[in-house]
Amino acid sequence: MTMTGGAVDEIKAKLEIVPLISEYTQVKKSGASFMAVCPFHHEKTPSLHVSPDKQMWYCHGCGEGGDIFGFIMRVEGLDFLDALRFLARKAGVTLNRDDAKANSDRQLMIEINTLAAKYFHEVLLRSPQAEAARAYVVKRALKSETVEDFMLGFSPNSWDATITFLRKRNYKDDQIIRAGLASKSDKGRGAFDRFRGRLMFPIRDANGNVVGFTARIMPGADGKDAKDEAKYVNTTNTPIYNKSHVLYGLDAARKAIKAQDLAVVVEGNMDVIASHQAGVKNVVASSGTSFTEEQLHILKRFTSRLVLSFDNDPAGELAARRSIDAAVAAGFAVRILRLPPGAGKDPDDCIRKAPTMWVRAITDAIPYMEWYITLVRERTDFANPDAVRDASQGLLKEIAKLTAPAERSHWIRQVADLFQTPESALFEVVQRLVGGKTVVGGAQVQSLRDSPHSSQPLAGLREVDAKRRGTVPKTRDSLISLHILALVFGYPALAEPVVNVVTPEMLSDEFRELYTDFVVAYTGERHGGHEPFNYHDVCLRTGNRELADRVAFLGLLAEKDYGELDSDAQRDVLVRLIGDLKQLHKSRRQHALQQAMTLAEKAGDTQKIRDITAQLSELIV
Ligand code: CTP
Ligand code: MN
Repeated sequence: MTMTGGAVDEIKAKLEIVPLISEYTQVKKSGASFMAVCPFHHEKTPSLHVSPDKQMWYCHGCGEGGDIFGFIMRVEGLDFLDALRFLARKAGVTLNRDDAKANSDRQLMIEINTLAAKYFHEVLLRSPQAEAARAYVVKRALKSETVEDFMLGFSPNSWDATITFLRKRNYKDDQIIRAGLASKSDKGRGAFDRFRGRLMFPIRDANGNVVGFTARIMPGADGKDAKDEAKYVNTTNTPIYNKSHVLYGLDAARKAIKAQDLAVVVEGNMDVIASHQAGVKNVVASSGTSFTEEQLHILKRFTSRLVLSFDNDPAGELAARRSIDAAVAAGFAVRILRLPPGAGKDPDDCIRKAPTMWVRAITDAIPYMEWYITLVRERTDFANPDAVRDASQGLLKEIAKLTAPAERSHWIRQVADLFQTPESALFEVVQRLVGGKTVVGGAQVQSLRDSPHSSQPLAGLREVDAKRRGTVPKTRDSLISLHILALVFGYPALAEPVVNVVTPEMLSDEFRELYTDFVVAYTGERHGGHEPFNYHDVCLRTGNRELADRVAFLGLLAEKDYGELDSDAQRDVLVRLIGDLKQLHKSRRQHALQQAMTLAEKAGDTQKIRDITAQLSELIV
């Protein structure tokens, strides 16, 4: 067990899963368990299953599942240690020394960055060296409240001003370097300031902690930015900062995003600041190029509706397409904002021209599918059949990605209009595109459809269900094995018939060890007279958390597929599954023996041929 084992268990004992998940999404009671609208994918009907008994959750829409730690990691976009801290605070649990150490290092990094931000800010406001920077801020039309709100600053044009300031406050060079404010000297001795002579934008996490900086070059005397130097320099990755995890302005925007249930995502930090200054506060920046999955996870806490605003150039368009894919996959409803002609190249330009134009552009944002259609309308040479085919295929491919049939029909109608083609023909194409992909798990589900109990809930198992647990059922026998174990773990009363009939080698490889351990524990406990036998409890008692999680997870799978059935019906399903498994096992053995036979015949090994023949005839009985 890891150093955090004790704290984990203590936190789990103190926090109830249902109220915890209720803080993020509405949870409704349903029978013995609870159902919620899943915050991790886009859906209207709840498919997130919460089991207060097992203190686990599982979404049969997107296949996500786990305990409270997994939930908080996903929903808050945290790594395990941060989720641990988050929940420890909530539960009033004090973390042990090792955890505290990691925690204090993070605090130290934040402390140094916060202090540096204040220093840069002071320099911008008062230092004679910041004369030009102050003039630039005025030229960019930033008000002093805005400079204050975003704690803008200026880094002196020096190799050691910042480092000297921090050293005086007793921070060591290696700490300053790790916090991202200085770099190690090439010569191996000492360190130098990372940010020199730049306008400083502190980057704060959702809770307002300064975790890093983005620093803009100062334009030269001609008012132009030097071409040979990067316009923006960012903090390198540090223990607390990763460029692709951060959304600039989120701390200032989160309230408005939540209140309006909408986030506007722009490219640049200047765009965020200008928008806030104009009173439009639900705006954050992805800080250049496309949106990352991490950023989307963080945003998901606050809204699932996005308006994307990318610069009106090919790079911006590409970034928009990528971001749309990622955002739609993450369950966001996505609209695209296009600045009106003459508004300038980015939101900052637009706002400086006319704030109302910016507000208008946001309300006029169109669904991304409509944007795709508009681009095709604007760019396609409708007289050229090849161009028409490619363009329509491209759109239909996007439509095929949609899951709601009504939404699909809606866009098919639009495309039909655009290309003057009957809807039914387009519908066909979309159906084919959808059918070709594994919406419901391809071959493995196909084989189940062919199986005698295709009407059973088993046929509804989706590939995603087990993916996360490394238990993707690749073949029919692994799928059957999975469901047998799920039933046994979900409904301990069903263990008896399984243990009596199913041997480990009948199951597919990935479940053999698990099942063997289970049988050993089961037989042991039986002799000890414990009743009823609950393997999950056994795993917890023996401190095997990982195994306990796996067992609980499988149990939830059974609850989801068979929870509606009464115990007799569950037993019927199980008997049928065992029958199928036996059949499969038999034909597998037969196949193996036949192969061995071929070899033995080739080798002329008569003894072996006799043995195999005997075994084969046993199988047939
Ligand atoms: N960016 C970056 N590194 C660069 C250039 C850009 O990290 N070398 C990021 C910055 O976060 C920047 C965003 O990409 O805010 C957008 O870049 P750009 O459009 O070039 O800058 P603007 O935000 O328009 O900045 P300004 O208006 O000050 O020129
Ligand atoms: Mn700009």
